[in-house]
Amino acid sequence: MGFTEKQEALVKESWKVMKQNIPEHSLRFFTLILEMAPAVKNMFPFLKDSDEIPQNNPKLKAHAFIVFKMTCDSAIQLREKGQVVLRDVPLKHLGSVHLEKGVVNSHFEVVKEALLGTIKEAVGESWSDEMGGAWGEAYDQLAATIKTQMEEEA
Ligand code: HEM
Repeated sequence: MGFTEKQEALVKESWKVMKQNIPEHSLRFFTLILEMAPAVKNMFPFLKDSDEIPQNNPKLKAHAFIVFKMTCDSAIQLREKGQVVLRDVPLKHLGSVHLEKGVVNSHFEVVKEALLGTIKEAVGESWSDEMGGAWGEAYDQLAATIKTQMEEEA
């Protein structure tokens, strides 16, 4: 079975909540990433030289926001077209940036767990395993698209 209407609705509903406080959720997202994979710090220029995660850094917010948004968009496309088509950033560029930064499969898993953890905290009582499953599936398909591109460029 493909991505269902219910799954799309769960993602959209929680994205509305997330959007209301991007600065806070971005910070939480990066905190969870670094707890799981401290070495990721050295990949991001804005984290590399500071002891703490910067509270109000536009680039940090931008990476968090784009991961949240592109995952949500992937859910919509999986429902509409049955596949992920990137609309925000050209796939070729995404592939080369992540390849250049040394991103590997395990990083994608860490980012997935951080994404789900951030959403879970953000939506509180609205959270359900089904909601997590819907975000997880959309993310997996998006990550697979980027990873395939990275392999092609490697
Ligand atoms: C940069 C998206 C996963 C690390 C970027 C950019 C986008 C993006 C759009 C900016 C490209 C530009 O402006 O030139 C995504 C999406 C992901 C994902 C949609 C997952 C679905 C990851 C993972 C890591 C990672 C797993 C590693 C932990 C980076 C780094 C940069 C970057 C280090 C460069 C940031 C900078 O130099 O400021 N990503 N990314 N990304 N991404 Fe990701």
